[in-house]
Amino acid sequence: MQTLSATSRNGNGRTGAEFVDMNDDVAEVLHDEKAISARVAELGRQISRDYAGRRLVLIGVMKGGIVFLSDLTRAISIPHEFDLVGAQSYRNGTTPAPQVTITKDIDLDIKGCDVLLIEDIYDTGHTLKVIHDLIELSRPASLEVCAFLVKKKERPYDLKPKYSGFEIDDVFVVGYGLDYKEKYRNLKSIAKLDPEVYQ
Ligand code: IMP
Ligand code: MG
Repeated sequence: MQTLSATSRNGNGRTGAEFVDMNDDVAEVLHDEKAISARVAELGRQISRDYAGRRLVLIGVMKGGIVFLSDLTRAISIPHEFDLVGAQSYRNGTTPAPQVTITKDIDLDIKGCDVLLIEDIYDTGHTLKVIHDLIELSRPASLEVCAFLVKKKERPYDLKPKYSGFEIDDVFVVGYGLDYKEKYRNLKSIAKLDPEVYQ
């Protein structure tokens, strides 16, 4: 591991000329690129089988869900469409904000379609509940959830995902679309950050 000062680690106060590899901020890799790609391929095969002959629409939840969506859509072999919905639920740092703001609605007409919501992570479930209720207003034939990660925890309402990539402990992770202060989304693995990053 490179020796970097706390300021250069968290991305603040850099000159811009300095090369900083975000992988140096990783304390532990939970799922690496190879494991992720194998799991996404499996999910793609399963969804292709389950939705064969149906009008499948994937709706990715921005921003975190777009990395998973872009891999999953190509792992699915049956014809389908995709769209995006924008939601903001984490304002800053690691504490979930109680309110969810919809920043972008879908463009497709999904009435009568079989919709799969594509989420980066199922944490408290607040975001998903708001989005689920919004999408339901468009009267899809069915509405299910595919979450890349599911945290092991109690939830006030349980919209249990029909599909999930991996179950993880209730810890803060980044990578594969998931951010800390908008960074680390482009990390290829799912990882825990070095506690120094949060200081
Ligand atoms: P919710 O608590 O299920 O509503 O999750 C809301 C959003 O918080 C997710 O879609 C993620 O964008 C973000 N989030 C939840 N847990 C984590 C985490 O461990 N790392 C990064 N982002 C997270
Ligand atoms: Mg976030």
